[in-house]
Amino acid sequence: MSTFHYASIRLVFYFEPYFRPFVNSMVILVTGGAGYIGSHTAVELLSQGHKVVVLDDLSNACEESLSRVERICNRKVHFVHGNVCDPNCLTSLFSRFKFDAVIHFAGCKAVGESVRKPLDYYHNNVTGSLFLLEAMKKFDVKKFVFSSSATIYGQKAPVPYVETLKTGGALNPYGSSKWMVEQILIDAAKADSELSVAMLRYFNPIGAHPSGLIGEDPLGVPNNLLPFIAQVAVGKREVLSVFGDDYETPDGTCIRDYLHVVDLAEGHVKALNWLMGHKGAEAFNLGTGTGFSVLDVVKAFEAASGVVIPYQVVSRRSGDLAVFWADATKAKAVLGWEAKRTLNDMMIDTWRWQSLNPNGYADT
Ligand code: WQD
Repeated sequence: MSTFHYASIRLVFYFEPYFRPFVNSMVILVTGGAGYIGSHTAVELLSQGHKVVVLDDLSNACEESLSRVERICNRKVHFVHGNVCDPNCLTSLFSRFKFDAVIHFAGCKAVGESVRKPLDYYHNNVTGSLFLLEAMKKFDVKKFVFSSSATIYGQKAPVPYVETLKTGGALNPYGSSKWMVEQILIDAAKADSELSVAMLRYFNPIGAHPSGLIGEDPLGVPNNLLPFIAQVAVGKREVLSVFGDDYETPDGTCIRDYLHVVDLAEGHVKALNWLMGHKGAEAFNLGTGTGFSVLDVVKAFEAASGVVIPYQVVSRRSGDLAVFWADATKAKAVLGWEAKRTLNDMMIDTWRWQSLNPNGYADT
């Protein structure tokens, strides 16, 4: 690279903060941004011209995911290794960057584990969110997107789930922790008229970026259906256990609202844009509005990959609901967002990621 080119690149980076207001790009803190949904959201934010700062303790993620994000976008991600439960880390971070908004993914998310370790879940998910909100208050950051979950509707909610339903009543500490943070956000927004909050209630995110460079890479034995199927397909797992086929559904297996993780990531960008013109706290379902059974997903994956997925039906998994999916009309009407990608797209992209990375990021 010539001296002239090098000097001009340095000039661009020197003057970039002064141009930012004119190109409507923002500085966004993405906590948990090295994780599955966080890394996919970082790709969408960078693609929109925003500057992305990721805070991640890498307890359930791999820094390699951020290198892949940079390869996809050909833009830099600022990575800070740290934890939202460390107030000193947050003070240092908010002193270093002038954030326009925060997207909060960091937290624990395994339902079964939350039953075994409730204090860890309430500390990481609730206390961590409180520390983050206190740092935002101290540094006058007023835009917050929260990674919430459909589990907060609880066991008795009528399907399809709509945002006006009474929430709470989840039968596991994971779902309860998400519900508690939503209550905190609602109260915080009532106390501060300048605060803008979007609480995004995810249904079942699956799939991977079409580049095949980033995807879901759970630690240990996957809890969730799709990564388990994908690991069977690459020979890492022998057989899929189908947790019950005696539910009151057409084929006896549970029905869920699976949505493509890139659709979900795009939903975060839409929510961020919505925050720019709105105050207060609002909840939005991010789902397709369509349900598929476990066996529907197995068949779709086999059709997309050409790989037979051996499975055995075993007893039901405790805590599983037979059926739930989203009423997704509010996100479409208010955010202008709707899921576009089909189940087949989700399977094709999952298979590309897993077959290119049989051991996830460990293959690097
Ligand atoms: C889907 C279906 C299982 C694995 C969870 C969290 C939820 C959200 C999404 C964060 C169920 C069946 C699964 C397997 C199977 N996460 N299954 N064999 O439980 O709907 O939701 O992930 O917000 O909070 O609860 O997703 O993928 O675990 O299960 O038969 O090896 O697949 O019984 O019917 P779930 P899942």
